[in-house]
Amino acid sequence: MNLTFSLIKPSAMDRCEEILMAIKAGGFSVLSMKTQQLTLSQVKKFYEEHAEKSFFTSMCERLALGPVLLMALYEPNGTDTPLKFRKLLGATDPKQALEGTLRKQFGVDLDANAVHGSDSEISAIRELSFFFCGMETGLELNGSSSRSL
Ligand code: TYD
Ligand code: MG
Repeated sequence: MNLTFSLIKPSAMDRCEEILMAIKAGGFSVLSMKTQQLTLSQVKKFYEEHAEKSFFTSMCERLALGPVLLMALYEPNGTDTPLKFRKLLGATDPKQALEGTLRKQFGVDLDANAVHGSDSEISAIRELSFFFCGMETGLELNGSSSRSL
């Protein structure tokens, strides 16, 4: 799949232009994006896979603190875009992230790691469909893209 989902977290929104430039310099294009203030219940649904984790409540509250930038990213002739974007994103903890990754450059710590990226194709389809309609991403219900990107 040549699409993935990314989100700039409230803690990094003051650097969103720089982050966008780094994403584009990393080879990804923006298919669709929008700024939105998420409600706590939207965030909890988005992160429901982590509902049992000790950090779930505080992590969700941080994501609902202010506006986020939601992005449908694509690579015109790419494949495995979710995994490639995860490489650009870097490790969950910015302190462990490699030089040149987004989280190394823009993250502070686990509580403020700047950017989210889908961790697989299945997650990307779920997360893109959670925030964007089919008209915005070209995603069909079966997960294939109706656009020739
Ligand atoms: P996770 O899905 O494990 O990481 P990633 O964002 O790299 O896919 O966790 C989701 C978010 O939860 C993560 O970006 C930051 C936060 N988090 C914590 O606050 N504490 C933790 O111990 C972990 C593992 C994650
Ligand atoms: Mg994750």
